[in-house]
Amino acid sequence: MKCCSCGVNYGKREVGMPKRNCKQCANPLVLREFWSFGDIETDLVSGLSQKNPIALVADNGKGLVGFTWGYQVPLEKFPCLAGKVQEEASYMDEVAVRRTRRQKGMGTALGVQYLEIAKQQGMLEVVLRTDERNKASMSLFRKLGFTDIPDSNNPRGKVYDPDPEYQNRIYLRRELTR
Ligand SMILES: CC(C)(COP(=O)(O)OP(=O)(O)OC[C@H]1O[C@@H](n2cnc3c(N)ncnc32)[C@H](O)[C@@H]1OP(=O)(O)O)[C@@H](O)C(=O)NCCC(=O)NCCS
Repeated sequence: MKCCSCGVNYGKREVGMPKRNCKQCANPLVLREFWSFGDIETDLVSGLSQKNPIALVADNGKGLVGFTWGYQVPLEKFPCLAGKVQEEASYMDEVAVRRTRRQKGMGTALGVQYLEIAKQQGMLEVVLRTDERNKASMSLFRKLGFTDIPDSNNPRGKVYDPDPEYQNRIYLRRELTR
């Protein structure tokens, strides 16, 4: 969920604990879905209007079971990646599989297909951002060959999200061999 006034994130545990005022903006706390349908639509439309978009859906004949989307990384929007990844890099923005269909290889299939299309577009690598505590996504991305991006300026030695609210968000890269 998120605060209606300032948009700060409230995790599952926090939502269960009644609070009168927002932890960030201190306004009276009114929460709404972190990702509403409208938010998702706006995000998708904006993503697909970038250079070299990719959008894949997995459908089992009864409906959507997974998706991934991304686009050529707009480095001006990711200053922490400037000079660390190539300009011809695709940014895999989202990947998800329906809860009941997970751990059956669908995430891998979507990821492999994404890498293939990015290569056909002439991209030299694929980059993404994920929470390093997310066992499922880290396992998927390691399996797909993603590695840490070294950063000598960061005490942890790798590129992380500069936003202190998302300290565990790590950036990963996967080179695409010609
Ligand atoms: C991350 C996600 C897309 C993985 O999809 P999936 O279809 O389950 O992935 P796969 O079945 O192809 O699994 C890929 C590898 O990850 C491992 N894995 C998947 N889920 C795991 C989990 N919960 N714990 C540990 N390993 C896991 C699998 O075992 C597999 O490795 P293996 O082949 O060596 O056994 C899915 O868990 C998901 O939708 N999560 C919620 C959304 C999300 O977190 N997206 C990533 C945001 S950056």
